[in-house]
Amino acid sequence: MRRMRRLRAPGIREMVAQTQLSLSDLVQPIFVDERISVPRVIEAMPGQFRQSLESLPAEAQALEDLGVPAVLLFGLPAIKDETGSGAYDPHGIIQKAVAAIKETTSLIVITDLCLCEYTSHGHCGLVRGEKILNDETLPLLGEVAVSHALAGADIVAPSGMMDHMVQAIRTSLDLDGYTDTPILSYSAKYASTFYGPFREAAKSGFAFGDRLGYQMNPANFSEALWEVQQDIEEGADMVMVKPAMPYLDVLRAVKDMFALPTAAYQVSGEYSMITAAAERGWLDERAAFLEALTCIKRAGADMIITYWAKEYAKLCL
Ligand code: PBG
Repeated sequence: MRRMRRLRAPGIREMVAQTQLSLSDLVQPIFVDERISVPRVIEAMPGQFRQSLESLPAEAQALEDLGVPAVLLFGLPAIKDETGSGAYDPHGIIQKAVAAIKETTSLIVITDLCLCEYTSHGHCGLVRGEKILNDETLPLLGEVAVSHALAGADIVAPSGMMDHMVQAIRTSLDLDGYTDTPILSYSAKYASTFYGPFREAAKSGFAFGDRLGYQMNPANFSEALWEVQQDIEEGADMVMVKPAMPYLDVLRAVKDMFALPTAAYQVSGEYSMITAAAERGWLDERAAFLEALTCIKRAGADMIITYWAKEYAKLCL
């Protein structure tokens, strides 16, 4: 008689495990804030900080020493304007941050490529009235990409969900000679309430409206496959599903159908839910994030962007 419990004995259980988390798959997001000189805690994300340009090299070094392979950089500029010009300023905060990390470490630097942290209205594209403009935004995204590559970014990651952003970015990069810079597209990015804590972390709330007109409806599945396919046709080297845990069905399908390197972003709200519950003694934080990361990998993620990358690295020592 088959007894499924036989293989759950200590030692055997690990031997037959089908999913292995690996530090080499994890990416740590970092927020770099032009207006501060020492790290500041992010209230809504206990344990996470905004770094200053001055504190960044030490943080990057610490990550490298722990064996974290890659970081995803977000810049918070001192000044925002209508067109998000800080995003493509060659001397902008993110360009300086990339250069600072590349100068002192050999971390893989991925840059979040979007206008929303840099625009006064907080939207991911140019606006006219309350309309978010698509095609008018594309040349700017190309410019942002080139400025990131020039600063030394290893991978650019467009997150604004503008149609044809990947094509615009690929064309700009190629024209400027950055033919070897890969694009990790936030292809299936949902309009999720789980980005809530990020709005504090990146100071990127919006002045009017919402993102429902460009990010995907959480109710939709097949639309994600179209988004991914279109990004691949436009030249994406890697694709992403975001958020992670509520969208594991999408992640599984994307991985199975397209077999391209597939990233999952375990977003700020996924982090804060667990840390908040742990603070109240309702959950064991470490066990919860290990389970969450394992399940995201099981569902098909080749890479996971997670605010626990550094913590996970410490467990690997
Ligand atoms: C910017 C961007 C956002 C996140 C990553 N890039 C916010 C948004 O789209 O509203 C969210 C990340 C997180 O919640 O951890 N376009």
